[in-house]
Amino acid sequence: MGIIEDRFSQLSEHRQQHILRVAKMMKELAAIHHLSPTNAQLAAMGHDLAREMSRDVLTREAKRLGLELSSPEREEPVLLHGPVAALWLQQANIGEPEVWEAIRYHTTAAPRLSPLAKALFIADGIEPGRRFETRTHLEHVAKEKSLDEAYVLMLKETMKYLESRRLKPHPLMIEALRLSEESS
Ligand SMILES: [Fe+2]
Ligand SMILES: [Fe+2]
Repeated sequence: MGIIEDRFSQLSEHRQQHILRVAKMMKELAAIHHLSPTNAQLAAMGHDLAREMSRDVLTREAKRLGLELSSPEREEPVLLHGPVAALWLQQANIGEPEVWEAIRYHTTAAPRLSPLAKALFIADGIEPGRRFETRTHLEHVAKEKSLDEAYVLMLKETMKYLESRRLKPHPLMIEALRLSEESS
């Protein structure tokens, strides 16, 4: 069995359903914005495969894979679930750099992401299982307007959420928003 099927089957029902909704959203966004449907599916199916590992196991796995842990990741090991899953796929030779980039940065976002990575960041945030006031508006923007516009809105929405929970945004996210606002 491939690593995606293998890891997927070990996730909770709740997580599996989330992943499948992200995959459906990615399929739609890929068709609208001319992204590779294969990469869109791989990115969606792979993005949360490491999401249910405990802090300790995730940290150990990240170190084993040779990931550099900076202070946000040391404080909040859950941030490692994207990078770890990306490396699993890369080492299994599943997908290509665009897919691994999308998975790696799906939680924090990052400056200068590819359209596929932006789409995954958006799809993860707006899949219909998510509940926040502007969700349907963001879905509309992502489907009828542009990925870039939806990406900036999603970044802002995430910042707002983090603020409300008194969590610090990741430096990559701050930089992503700064660059996106500059270029728009
Ligand atoms: Fe995630
Ligand atoms: Fe997710």
